This record gives sequence, structure tokens and C-alpha cells, in this order.
Amino acid sequence: MDDYHPKKGIQHQTPTRTKLKILLLVISTNLLSIYLFSGESNHWKDYAPRIHLWDSELLLRELNSTQDKLTHSQRQLSDLHRRLATSNSLLETLLTDLGRVHGDKATQEDLDGWKDELFGELKLAVGPHKLPLGYTANLGSDELFPVLGSACRPHQEELIEYMSYKVGGECPSDEVFAQRLMLKGCEPLPRRRCHPASPKGYVEPTPFPESLWTIPPDTSITWDAYTCKNYSCLVNRNKERGSYDCKDCFDLGGREKVRWLFDNGGLDYGIDGVLSTRKPGTIRIGLDIGGGSGTFAARMRERNVTIVTSTMNFDGPFNSFIASRGLVPMHVSVAHRLPFFDNTLDIVHSMHVLSNWIPDVMLEFALYDIYRVLRPGGLFWLDHFFCIGTQLNSSYVPMFDRIGFNKLRWTAGRKLDRGIEKNEWYLSALLEKPMT
Ligand SMILES: *[C@@H]1O[C@H](CO)[C@@H](O)[C@H](O)[C@H]1NC(C)=O
Ligand SMILES: *[C@@H]1O[C@H](CO)[C@@H](O)[C@H](O)[C@H]1NC(C)=O
Ligand SMILES: *[C@@H]1O[C@H](CO)[C@@H](O)[C@H](O)[C@H]1NC(C)=O
Ligand SMILES: *[C@@H]1O[C@H](CO)[C@@H](O)[C@H](O)[C@H]1NC(C)=O
Repeated sequence: MDDYHPKKGIQHQTPTRTKLKILLLVISTNLLSIYLFSGESNHWKDYAPRIHLWDSELLLRELNSTQDKLTHSQRQLSDLHRRLATSNSLLETLLTDLGRVHGDKATQEDLDGWKDELFGELKLAVGPHKLPLGYTANLGSDELFPVLGSACRPHQEELIEYMSYKVGGECPSDEVFAQRLMLKGCEPLPRRRCHPASPKGYVEPTPFPESLWTIPPDTSITWDAYTCKNYSCLVNRNKERGSYDCKDCFDLGGREKVRWLFDNGGLDYGIDGVLSTRKPGTIRIGLDIGGGSGTFAARMRERNVTIVTSTMNFDGPFNSFIASRGLVPMHVSVAHRLPFFDNTLDIVHSMHVLSNWIPDVMLEFALYDIYRVLRPGGLFWLDHFFCIGTQLNSSYVPMFDRIGFNKLRWTAGRKLDRGIEKNEWYLSALLEKPMT
């Protein structure tokens, strides 16, 4: 668990210590000047007017001289203030320079986390924006910030490139670049004011329910971002060598046609068996995390269950394909906090995408988030979670136990094919969020 909290590098101590020394030096200089000043005006007791009530003229004179002295000491005070301000700004400059020398970020720069000053559309996208008067009560703030992942900040150069577009014009076609930013945690992305190019020769979608099992026309999307330039290329790649993400997912006549229809008593659970663990009709809405081309949602739709499918467009237009089937795609990465309300979904399913490639803490975040969005009694169907045998007992079983799901079904099995000698394992599980 200690690994989850990266320790501060040793090299950071040196500049910090030097900074501290300089800070102490400057503070003591300031103290010295304050001392000198107070020494000069050491006679505060003289300012106390010696009042003789029987001599009004003397009283006036005394008052006059007291006023003079007060004016004088006011001047001294403002001089002192000015000197302090000067030495403070000197200190700031000094620390900034010192930070630069040591490759450290300057104090001012650290304030809002951006390396350089923000300009133009990127600055607008970062905010803040003032609310109209009278609209601040519910927010506890008089400004609004557009949503932007904090992980966008370390990638300012890339963001500047991403945000160089014509406001009101056509969005640059740079999906691969955009997804790379998303995967690094810069999500949601800041580009907000342009129109995506419409595919040339777009035709209206196939009517439902035929759309569920129809490969859409090639003209339904733009192919700029992909190696394949048509759907038959995507369908045929399952016959090729080479590793792609969800290689045979676009082939609706192939393996997709039978996925989740049968329960093999092992790692493959069937949809109907899973639904039968609940009262009929009580599984109504849910989410499929990393749902490929949307087949899980299609099968659930046929059973009157509405499933939102989250997926990224790696190696293919997965999101467009899902939409063309008449299902709801959602373009978020696994690093994203799920955009659903607490205690709402009846079921969350995930196949293949959750596995040992995700850093442990991030995986635990995702699992807690699944727990959060599920309603009490909701189901989490973890489908073919991949890992190495030794990791299963050492990391993942304890992690799943920590989250707090009830186990309705639990199957760990060796990955067939090359998995045998490499001790590669799959875990399938049907988990339930407790009722209380
Ligand atoms: C008070 O001082 C002002 C100038 O500072 C002078 O004009 C005035 O006569 C003085 N009043 C008395 C009562 O000394
Ligand atoms: C699809 O694209 C491939 C190359 O990506 C090309 O060889 C093939 O002819 C195209 N097929 C159709 C039907 O356009
Ligand atoms: C889905 O809902 C429709 C309309 O309510 C109903 O006719 C149909 O039988 C339902 N299908 C299933 C599999 O429950
Ligand atoms: C995990 O532990 C269980 C019980 O201790 C054991 O039966 C099983 O073989 C272990 N699994 C792996 C993959 O090592």
C-alpha cells in the first residue's frame, strides 16, 4: 500500500532548505529594520499630552505638537510599510529565481497549476466566469468553472495545440490526439465551440430493431482517424494476424452473435441466468464499461433493459458503431468518475477492460465507483478479469473483499491457449451490492 503514495524525491529537499534559509535571512532583515525604526521613535510616552486643564493655550500648543508628532510617526510607518513591501517582492523574486535554477516551479506558477499564462480559447475554457447577480446563493460562489480534468495541467503544450481552432468553425479532425489526452486523465476535454465535420453522404440510420444487428453504411462516419477506411475492413481484421482492440467486435455475424447467450458453467455466464437472480423486470437500467461494439447492450435491449455502453475509439469507431445500432455510447475512459448518480443503476457489466493493466489504486477507485452508482441489491457482473495467478490471491481477491460486495458467483480459471505456461488467469464474478 505504501507504493500508492509516491514519496517526495530527495533532490527536492535541497532547494527547499536553501529557500528556508533565505526566508529566515530576509525575515531577520525585516525584523532588524523594524527594531531600528522603533528605536528611533522610542519615546512613545512623549506623545502622551501633559494636559493642564487650567491653561487652554498651553493645551492647544500641546495638542498641536502632538498632532505634528503623530503626522511624523505616520510618515515613518508608511515608509516602513514600503520597505517591507520592497523586501517582500525581493524575496519573491529571489525564490522564483532559485526555483528556476533548481528546476523547481516558481511559487506564482504553482498557484493555479499551469506552467505558463493562459490565453484565448484555452483561458476561457478554464474559467472562471462570473455569475449574474442574484444567482450565487445555491453555489456558494459568484463564479463558475467549466469542468476540466486537473490532469490537463501538466500537458499545457498539447492543450494549446488542441485548443488552436476556429471558434464557430469546423473542429479539427484529431480524434487520436484527443483520446491520448483523455487517457492521460485530461477529461473532459476543453474544446467547446466548434462543429465536428459531418460525414460525406450521410444516410439516415436503419430503423430499430433491425439496427441492433445491422452494420451501418460506410458513409455514416468519417474515417480520418482509423487505419481501416470501411466497415468490411474492420470486420475482416479478425481473420488477420495482428493485435487490435476488440478485434472481432465489428463482425456481427461472428462471435458477437452468440456472446452471453449461453452459460458454460465456467467463466462464461449467460445474460438470462444473471437476470434470473433478480425478480423479473427489476433489472431495468445499467452500464457496460468498455463495451466494445455494444453487443451486451443490444442483448439487454432485447430484454427491455437499457444499457449505456462506455468505450473509447481505439483502433476503430466503436462509439459511432454503437450509436448506429440504436444504443447509447459514452465516451469516457476508465480513469473517469462515472457520470451517474449514487444508488441508481440496476446492473454494471464489464468484460476484459478491467484487468491488471490498470494501476491498483485506479482499479480500486473504479470498483468503489461501480459500488457507488449501483442501487442496493444491484448487480456487478465482472466478466473475464485478466491477471497473473500470483496477483489473484495477493492483490485482487483482497481488493474485491475490501469493496464490500456480496459474492453470488465466483469463478477463477486459467486462460486457455498460451495462458497455461504463463500462469495467466481469468476471474468472472457476479457480485451484489448489499441491501443495507
Ligand atoms: C498650530 O500649528 C500651526 C502650524 O502647524 C500654526 O499655524 C498654529 O498657529 C498653531 N497653533 C497654536 C495654538 O500653536
Ligand atoms: C475497404 O478498405 C480496404 C482497405 O482498407 C480496401 O482494400 C477495400 O477495397 C475496401 N472495401 C470496400 C467495399 O470499399
Ligand atoms: C419488452 O417489452 C415489450 C413491451 O412492453 C413486451 O411486449 C415484451 O414482451 C418485452 N420483452 C421481454 C423479453 O420482456
Ligand atoms: C488462491 O488461493 C486459494 C486458496 O488458498 C488456492 O486454492 C488457489 O489455488 C490460489 N489461486 C491461485 C491462482 O494461486
